[in-house]
Amino acid sequence: MCCGTKALAAVGAVVLIAVAAYLLYLILEIHVLPGIPLTTYGANTKSRGAGSWALVTGATDGIGRSFAVQLAKNGFNVVLVSRTKAKLEELSREIQSKYVGTKTAIYAMDFSVASASEYEGLGRLISHLDVAVLVNNVGTSHEMPETFLDMAESEIERITNMNVIVTQRVTKLVAPKLVARKRGLILNLGSFTGQWGTPMMATYAGSKAFLIGWTYALGEELRRANVDVQLLNTFFVVSSMSKIRRASLMIPLPDDYVKATLARIGRSTGALGRPFTMTPWPAHAWLDWATSHLTPAGLMLSRSYDYNLNTRKRAIRKAEQLAKKQ
Ligand SMILES: NC(=O)c1ccc[n+]([C@@H]2O[C@H](COP(=O)([O-])OP(=O)(O)OC[C@H]3O[C@@H](n4cnc5c(N)ncnc54)[C@H](OP(=O)(O)O)[C@@H]3O)[C@@H](O)[C@H]2O)c1
Repeated sequence: MCCGTKALAAVGAVVLIAVAAYLLYLILEIHVLPGIPLTTYGANTKSRGAGSWALVTGATDGIGRSFAVQLAKNGFNVVLVSRTKAKLEELSREIQSKYVGTKTAIYAMDFSVASASEYEGLGRLISHLDVAVLVNNVGTSHEMPETFLDMAESEIERITNMNVIVTQRVTKLVAPKLVARKRGLILNLGSFTGQWGTPMMATYAGSKAFLIGWTYALGEELRRANVDVQLLNTFFVVSSMSKIRRASLMIPLPDDYVKATLARIGRSTGALGRPFTMTPWPAHAWLDWATSHLTPAGLMLSRSYDYNLNTRKRAIRKAEQLAKKQ
């Protein structure tokens, strides 16, 4: 072997070892390495009620409900904020009877029309509580996929307000408490639509893309105050919003999704290389990694367009069938 060939073989070996090491680390990130223990943020299962508080928005259904129940299970007291008072009361009773000793506080507010005084009311409710965790979960999407030019102005405002403005207002209200106690956690419910850009869901995708940049900035600012901020890059989960009822490997139930999240706080999982971001569900994590590193972005856009066009056609057919029956 001449010197040139030897050098080339050595470079090849180094590259192979680096790729193998990277892939091994990715597997460990997604499947093995544990997250920050929730006791770090004041969870206490030994003496329920003595722990710190977690505040969840949109707490009465889907992913938010699972966060509320599982944060209580893990030893937090919980502030439940959502639209429907009766559902909040029922959830509060369920948590108190399942995890005896856990304290709950409920606050009913419709974020789509909430006034300054309602935010102030929420501020008063939490003013004496040791809130350490905020889950910015509440969000809304398009009723069905549609092109941006077909969207009603009211729909644009509804989605942008809920996903962009509400998230910031709640964070302005709650995050100073986390900073003051010098340890805290903020989880922002992101979406793959924000990462890819998703035709026929332009405003929802844009609002979730906002959360990506906003989380980067907030994460760096609050890191200095010992508050961990993470965007949860979420693909489909069974829920009323996704309108998906059956779970599969790629579409977890909210409980399974949240369990995977709480076990991986602080990790990147499939979002390796993107700060303050994780893709907690393992199958989503691989999809995230593959689409970020191996698939041309333009291809994802055209596939999403076709997918959403079909979803729209199906939704219209279903609505027409329903109308005929009535
Ligand atoms: N599911 C998915 O596939 C998926 C994928 C990516 C990202 N996400 C994100 O995950 C988050 C939760 O989604 P989800 O699928 O769990 O939703 P969901 O099942 O529809 O639950 C939404 C929750 O928010 C509450 N809510 C809705 N509008 C409200 C309003 N105007 N004011 C106050 N509370 C309101 C609902 O209260 P009521 O009980 O009174 O209705 C309910 O508790 C959203 O930010 C969403 O964008 C979801």
